[in-house]
Parts: sequence; C-alpha cells; structure tokens
Amino acid sequence: MSDKPTFYITTPIYYPSDKLHIGHAYTTVAADTMSRYKKMRGFDTYFLTGSDEHGQKIQRRAAAAGKTPQEFVDEIILNFKELWRVLDIQYDDFIRTTDQRHMKVCQELFQQIYDQGDIYKSEYEGWYCTSCETFFTETQVGEEHICPDCGKPAELTKEESYFFRMSKYADRWMQFIEENPDFIRPESRRNEMINFVKQGLEDLCVSRTTFDWGIPVPFDSKHVIYVWFDALINYISALKSKEDGRLYEKFWPADVHLVGKDIIRFHTIIWPIMLMAAGLPLPKTVLGHGWVLQGDGGKMSKSKGNVVDPLVLCGKYGSDAIRYFLMREMAYGLDCNYSEEALALRINTDLANDYGNLLSRTTGMIDKFQGGVVLPPTGKTEFDEELIALAKETPARFAALMDHMEWANALAELWKLVNRANKYIDEAAPWALNKAGEKDKLAAVLYNMVEVIRLVTVMVAPVMPGLPARVWQQLGIREDHSLTSWDSLQWGGFPAGTKIDRGEPLFPRIDLDALDEIPQQPVEKADAQPAAVDDMEPIAPQCVIDDFAKLDLRVVKVLACNKVPKADKLLQFTLELGGETRTVLSGIAEYYSPEELVGKKLIVIANLAPRKIRGIESHGMLLSVERNGKLCVVEAPDMPTGSRVV
Ligand code: ME8
Ligand code: MG
Repeated sequence: MSDKPTFYITTPIYYPSDKLHIGHAYTTVAADTMSRYKKMRGFDTYFLTGSDEHGQKIQRRAAAAGKTPQEFVDEIILNFKELWRVLDIQYDDFIRTTDQRHMKVCQELFQQIYDQGDIYKSEYEGWYCTSCETFFTETQVGEEHICPDCGKPAELTKEESYFFRMSKYADRWMQFIEENPDFIRPESRRNEMINFVKQGLEDLCVSRTTFDWGIPVPFDSKHVIYVWFDALINYISALKSKEDGRLYEKFWPADVHLVGKDIIRFHTIIWPIMLMAAGLPLPKTVLGHGWVLQGDGGKMSKSKGNVVDPLVLCGKYGSDAIRYFLMREMAYGLDCNYSEEALALRINTDLANDYGNLLSRTTGMIDKFQGGVVLPPTGKTEFDEELIALAKETPARFAALMDHMEWANALAELWKLVNRANKYIDEAAPWALNKAGEKDKLAAVLYNMVEVIRLVTVMVAPVMPGLPARVWQQLGIREDHSLTSWDSLQWGGFPAGTKIDRGEPLFPRIDLDALDEIPQQPVEKADAQPAAVDDMEPIAPQCVIDDFAKLDLRVVKVLACNKVPKADKLLQFTLELGGETRTVLSGIAEYYSPEELVGKKLIVIANLAPRKIRGIESHGMLLSVERNGKLCVVEAPDMPTGSRVV
C-alpha cells in the first residue's frame, strides 16, 4: 500500500428525473477541480459521483413517459455521462442506486440499525413533497400546504412506515458539531443546522408503502426504503462494494461531501446520525455551496424548467472556459448569477484579455525580437524584482485558498500575478529595449514573462485541464515533472534556449452583441449516444373551474414580430386584439423565424399583469405547447380576433 495521504471527495448523486443543468455542472466541476488539485499535490485521490434513481418522483416521471422506471433512468444516465465526458470530469466511480452492489450495502445497514432497535414500525401521518422527496409537518407546510423548500404543493400522506430513532442521537450530534467546527462549512450553514436541531429532532420516516420503486426493506417486503436513506448510503456502498472493501478501508471517512445548500440538512444531520447509529466514522467536512441563479433571480432547477444546458455552452465556448467561469464566478458560500452575457464577459476579461494576451504578446515578441527563441535572462531591469517576488509568493497563497476550497478567491489570487505580468510588460517596454539594443535586458524581460505563464498554467490546470497542453505546445515544452508539476513551481525552471511555436489565440474574444450567432461546435461524440428523452410532465394537482375562469384567453392576430436584440430566446410581437394593439414577448425564438408568424391567429392570456422583460413591457402571454423542451404556438386560424377561449 502506498503511504501517500488520501483524499476522498464526492458530489451529490443527482436525480435522473431530467437532464442536468449548469447548477449540477458547478458541483461536479468543483469536485473534479479539487480532486485534480489534490492529486497534483501528491494525494491518493478518489472522486465519486453517480445517480439517485429510486423514489416516488422518478416512478411518476417514468409512468408519465410510458416507461418502466428502470428504462427511464437508463436513458437519462446516458446524458449524465455524456455531460461529464464533455466537461472533462475524471471521476473514479459512478454509483447508481439501482446497482446491486449499492442495494446490498443499503439493505445490510438498514437491517443492522433495525436489529439494534433504532428502527421501529409505526404510522406516518403528515405531508410529503415528492419533488424534494421530503417529509414535512403541518406547521412546516403552513395553511397553504406548500413545500417550504421548493414552493410546490405538498401531499397529505398516511401510511404504515418504519421510523429511525433520530431523536435519540440529538445530544451526540450536538456534541460532535461542537467538537468538529469544520464539519459543516461555511460557518453560516453550521449555525443554521445547530438552530434547526435545537428546536428538537424528530424520528425520521424511513420506509414507504404507497409505491414500490425502491430498495425493499429486507425483513418486510411491503416496504421500500425511503429514498434519502437509500441515497446517502452511496458514499460508502461505492467503496465497500469494490476491491473486497479495500477502498473503504483506504478512503473512508470522506474528506469532503460537496453539496448545494438545498441538501445540507440531509448531509449534516440525517447522514451523520445514520453513521453514528451504525457505529461508522463520520465524514470530515460537508461543504454546502450556493446556488447558480438565473438572471431573473430564481434558483435554476430541473423542476422549474428555467435551466441552461451545459452541453450547449460547451459547444459554443469550450469546456475549459465553462469550468473557469463556474469556479471563478461563485464566491465562497454565496450564490452567483448566471447569464450568457456574464459568461462571455468573464471569458473576454480574464481569459482573452488578461491571460490570452499575456501569452500572445510574449510569444509575439519572442518571435519578433529573438527569432522565436527564449534566451537566458542575462540582464536585469528595475521592474523584475517585484514581479519575481509576487511569482514566488503566489503558489503558497493559491494553495492555501484551494485547500480551503475557496476556488473563486484562489483564481483571483492567480490572476493578480497575470495582471502584474501584463503591467510589467508595459513598464519594462521590451519594444523600447529592443530598439535601444539592450539585448540582455530584453532577454530577461521575455524570459520572466514566459516563466510567469508557465507558473500560472501549472496552477490553473485543475480548473482548465485542457489548457496546459495547448500552452506547452506554444511555449515549445512538454508535460514533464521538472516543468509542469506542482514541484516545478520554482522560479527559473523554464529551460533557456527553447524554441517556441506561436499559435492561434487560445481564447478568441466574444462579440457580446452577437452571442446568438456563435456557432455551436459539435462536441466529439461518445460511443453511447444520449437517447432522446420523451417524457410527459406529470398532470398538475386538481383545480376547480373558477381557477380557469380567472384567465381571459383571447384570439389575437400577429401584426408584426421581431427578434429581441441580445436575447436568444425572445420574440417581440405586435398583436391586434379586437381593434387594439398590444406588445407581447414570448420565448419561442428558437423555434420560429419572426416572418413565419406574421398574420397568424394565436391565443393570448389577455388579462395577465404586465411584466417587464429586457426593458420591454409585455402585456400578456402567448400560449404554446411544450414537449421535450420544444415549443409550438397554439393557433386559432378561423376565429375573429377578440374571441374568448371558454
Ligand atoms: O438533491 N445551483 O439531487 P438533485 C447550484 N438526489 N447547484 C445546484 C443547482 C443550482 N441552481 N441545482 C442543482 C438531489 N445543484 C439528491 C441528492 S445525495 C445523497 C442525493 C446541484 O438532482 C447541487 O449540488 O436535485 C444540489 O445539491 C444538487 O445539484 C441537487 O441535485
Ligand atoms: Mg433538487
């Protein structure tokens, strides 16, 4: 066995209820970045991701799609794996909760906790949110019976269930949290969880009987194990079921469970108590990061449908740029806003201008002034010392922030060096040195620039794993321990005499006014193609006729239709409704060219409160039909405008 220190990091196992979006990509890219970074620092790393395939939500989605749950999840998993491939995610294992190896460990643990008396049979009566797969009390759902986490209607549930004696462990939990201040991070989340438990911990319902898509309770096959109890066990079942348990011996307890703040409670209260009950060691840290928010302020979520497909973004901008954006944009412990403009701006500023220009200016001048050869730094200028001092300090500062998982701050620290180097070029003015025939000084300045690029590129590699090879190619060097490893981060390691090979700009500038026109490069296809998923949305909860009567739906005629500048999805309509005209915006630009809609008779919600979108006030909403993410307008070709839908 190697004596390297170990590092085990996990992502949540995502629900294969739909395709993943950039929120999921964030967590997985962060875990991948961390795993690559630790590997570079000499750790023996293990990185686990996977899918959470049981439960009522999946069963309903599958039924609505006319598929068995297994067929349904098998297809969606292909999309997960395709996304991770395109995003350069190097996981060590992908666990599915429908794997036999997982189900076995899960049942054993359930049995063990039952045998020792911490699971007992009773009846559950209360509320359930299927979207979150969470039980709530009457007080939590309030008078409206709404899920306090996602805002969707909760369902009243009454069924025979097994319960897990969580309450018994409240004191031990509190003591553990006090003794391990780094267990829940960031601090603000730790305080939230402490307050939550202080209000009293109830026993948890851990089995269901009203549907059957789950792992059977080993001693009572009428019941399936509650999906969260099942899912959390993935973090150990993946290890226990491989290499005769040696992986478990080596890597458990996990160093980091990386999760979004939406599921911090499951990971910092339920999971540790499950482990306490089972007599197993607890993970060292649960980091609950913030959310990627949509430009309009809401959490991006599969169930809200306001998602951005990371595969499309990778096709337009490349996976390194997307990874960099995600890691740079989300400040430690906070949420971040996503918009394509913000993404393009970040690429232009940090990657095209700061980093890309440093490289192209450097290689350009080496070509022009030194025949393409990096010469030894025989001279000295008055500006060198400050630059070199910063370059020497940066690895330690960067490492401290990376070790603390403050990725955005770590990158900001690295970019201080990039920007210092750009300023250094302006100060040292190599073109003037060249003109004045100061060859030794010129050689030193160009050498120092190359050396900064090398150091920055080594450090940024865990975030942008595709970048180094392209840079080494231009600098005329190869992947090599003495040049490109963490240990190589010593000033002066670049071999003088190297012939460079100037290339294309690494990050072409993006025209912010023409984001819609950026071609989407086909991503290289994997062997298994993601299947088209044809899933019908579940039918919404019941309503009464009065709910419908509140909506005033009218026939309108399209007088004019245009694209909204800088918004790839939006069309602006001028509609005629019973002799009056009104402006309405609709997000269907991907499916229609404006001309084909002019003259058509469509249906609008005529009494919808006006809403400003992109600075334009929209007076109503056009009805469309949606299937598999595609939209088609609802037409009423033969009726005069102003006619009401009844
Ligand atoms: O909760 N911003 O799965 P899930 C940032 N199956 N991160 C986001 C995000 C957003 N807008 N949306 C999702 C589940 N995420 C369970 C987990 S683990 C034993 C079981 C990320 O598909 C974030 O990591 O709903 C969040 O916690 C996770 O996806 C939820 O994924
Ligand atoms: Mg979720």
